[in-house]
Amino acid sequence: MFNDQSNLFTCSLILLLFTLVGTVHAETLTIYSGRSKSLVEPIIKQFEEKSGIQVEVSYGNTTQLAAALLTEGAKSPAALFWAQDAGALGAVSKNAMFEKLPETILTKVPSGFRDADGFWIATSGRARVLAYAPERVEMKELPQSIFDLTQPMWKGRVGWAPTNASFQAFVTSLRVQVGEERTEKWLRDMKANGAKKYAKNTPIIEALAAGEIDVGLPNHYYLLRFKSKDANFPVAQTFFKASDPGNLVNIAGVGMLKSSKNKEAALKFVEFLLSAKAQQYFTSDVFEYPAIEGVTPHTNLLPLSELLQLAPTFNLNDMDDLDGTVKLLRRVEIL
Ligand SMILES: [Fe+2]
Repeated sequence: MFNDQSNLFTCSLILLLFTLVGTVHAETLTIYSGRSKSLVEPIIKQFEEKSGIQVEVSYGNTTQLAAALLTEGAKSPAALFWAQDAGALGAVSKNAMFEKLPETILTKVPSGFRDADGFWIATSGRARVLAYAPERVEMKELPQSIFDLTQPMWKGRVGWAPTNASFQAFVTSLRVQVGEERTEKWLRDMKANGAKKYAKNTPIIEALAAGEIDVGLPNHYYLLRFKSKDANFPVAQTFFKASDPGNLVNIAGVGMLKSSKNKEAALKFVEFLLSAKAQQYFTSDVFEYPAIEGVTPHTNLLPLSELLQLAPTFNLNDMDDLDGTVKLLRRVEIL
């Protein structure tokens, strides 16, 4: 009896030790994610199952996570920063906190989808578009440039979402491309032309369907959500002429912290995000542009090469001055 108990005790102790050792040795990867939990969680689960690496995710607003990383510096527990805006990656990158990614990873995406110096890489693309009501706007009337929207013919017909992060990223990109003065003039002219404010992108699409406005400036995937439920939803979308600032292609992307203690696991995760399986999920399920060729984009999306031909070209890292944009939007009393 005594012996049995003793054996049982010894066995339990050994088991406990194995468990403890296992826990200590199981790799844990910490990711700061500006992408939402609902989007990211299925991907994380797949990665954990495939790799045996445990992932811990801190979710937050992309801009705030970038600020947190700058404050934490080398003490940050984060191995990776997964952002949904190039400006936030630019801010971390300019503070020399990212480690250069290996060529084998960088070359998976077209050059427009990665940092020129290799410090971050896009995981998907998010385009600005002109959404419109085909019942009230003829194809031949469609504006060729974002700057056309200040003309009298668009008075009171345009919707935008000035508090939205994607709109603000677009204004930042406009400042980078055409300068402060011209951006300020465009904003003032748009306001004077009666641009209508909406809280977010989805209400812009709804307002187009409801006849409140005739054109709007959202990200591309909002309309696709409506179309996936109702193919006849009475809104369409298009791009401006090639290279117009209105065709901004922002990215969601990832960078690896120099201070990361788990670089091998971090790179495995980046590779996983760029795998055909994860890329197909981003485009099929959340209607974003895939970052790699060879994945079939959602039916309502352009092939990646065509998208990149339409996009304006400038250094996406320079979209890091969100503060300046917020100040400008306040000065012109749009915020
Ligand atoms: Fe969005």
